Amino acid sequence: MSKKRKINPVLEAIMAAAPVEDAARQEYFIDVAHKEVLRLKETLQRDLTCCVNTFGCQMNARDSEKILGVLEKAGYVPSEDEHADFVIYNTCTVRENACNRVYGRLGYLSTLKKKNAAMKIALCGCMMQEEHVREKIHQSYPFVDLVFGTHNIYQFSELLVMALFCDYQVVEVIEGSDKIVEELPIVRKYAYKSGVNITFGCNNFCSYCIVPYVRGREKSREPKDILREIETLAADGVVEVMLLGQNVNSYGKGLKDPITFAQLLQEVEKIDGIERIRFMTSHPKDLSDELIEVMANSKKICRHLHLPVQSGSSRILKIMNRHYDREHYLNLVNKIREKLPDVALTTDIIVGFPGETEEDFLETLSLVKEVEYDSAFTFIYSKRSGTPAATMPDQVPEDVVKDRFDRLLKAVQEISEKKANVLEGQDVTVLVESVNEQDPNLVTGRLSNNSIVHFPGEKTLIGKFVTVHLDTCKGFYYLGTKVN
Ligand code: 5AD
Ligand code: SF4
Repeated sequence: MSKKRKINPVLEAIMAAAPVEDAARQEYFIDVAHKEVLRLKETLQRDLTCCVNTFGCQMNARDSEKILGVLEKAGYVPSEDEHADFVIYNTCTVRENACNRVYGRLGYLSTLKKKNAAMKIALCGCMMQEEHVREKIHQSYPFVDLVFGTHNIYQFSELLVMALFCDYQVVEVIEGSDKIVEELPIVRKYAYKSGVNITFGCNNFCSYCIVPYVRGREKSREPKDILREIETLAADGVVEVMLLGQNVNSYGKGLKDPITFAQLLQEVEKIDGIERIRFMTSHPKDLSDELIEVMANSKKICRHLHLPVQSGSSRILKIMNRHYDREHYLNLVNKIREKLPDVALTTDIIVGFPGETEEDFLETLSLVKEVEYDSAFTFIYSKRSGTPAATMPDQVPEDVVKDRFDRLLKAVQEISEKKANVLEGQDVTVLVESVNEQDPNLVTGRLSNNSIVHFPGEKTLIGKFVTVHLDTCKGFYYLGTKVN
């Protein structure tokens, strides 16, 4: 453990008695944390609560489920409210505004901590992998009790114990790791669906992206571990899995017995109880014909492909280090549409990448119109220090980027509205996900193609598949009626 100072004797004794082997060690620390939480509960005469706040992507959401799993086992009661005894932010550093949101909220957390002596504040996730962030937290936010990185999640129970027994900021960040630790306790956010990590890290080094630096090199989990996890989930009532990786299409490359992503999908398909399979994210350079074929023949793989294009200009794609050009991408889309006519295509697009000219931007706009995405996440380029793009010349002025962003968003929205109409009047299978947030008489369900429908129904339908008639399209969602 790094940055150890004045360890108190109680903690010293706890650490000395800890087993060396990973799983036993973490079980041991969960037990120690549990005893401490019970002691505090006795002293305070109330339950201790915890709040896990997740920023960023599905990977972080999955990591947060592991963190919550440990906290619940240690005796904390989960809460959505940051007036809690253990508050942890699982951070994202892909774009600068995600980082600023974290710094902004830390001031607020410090006011809460002043009113609750038992409160502990922890920060983890991608931001913490950056040294300048850790320095800033140390200097400007000394009230933060625990800082750890993306490779330390498996040690969380040990770090929790340190935070509970130390009165200084504990910092534990592994710079890079090949280690994949299985079998952590997990509290799933949803009973009926779950994310499943298949790869960690990324090897692609897109020139704008910080992920390979903070998440490390790509590592695939062993198929047997993935399949065993999904079997356990299915036995526990999960009907939909989302296979997660920065680039799922390159799954399996570094394994002792290499296997392709398409082969893995075929194995997942065989698992009884799993009715829907999703995955995220696909990289256009690695999406194989084999995968399209497997999707076309599958009853369970959802009709949705998220295929980030980033730019419609071959010149920019080259500087982005994406390893495909406009033509390759459009050919791929045509192939997909031919074999999977009902598939929904979504994408990520960056505007204002260094050196992007009006001409380059018009190529992006025309690609968007040609592909007709069902929806698209549009991002303003954010300079991430340490990436090659951060020092590239011709950074695009803010007002130009803003203008391009607005034009792109308008085009994307017009197309999605037009596309969404297509299913109006049809009967579709829907997995019911929740009671509608605005109207408790409605429930919200998801189609195979990831569209959303609201329709009159009971809470008891959550987690069930039902047939719904899509009455009207309201732009980004449908209103429907359950068909009996
Ligand atoms: N600036 C803006 N958007 C970015 N993304 C990744 N890095 C940056 C950056 N520096 C976007 C990409 C990626 C998505 C997850 O985030 O579009 O696909
Ligand atoms: Fe970032 Fe590119 Fe890796 Fe995606 S594929 S995580 S954009 S480096």
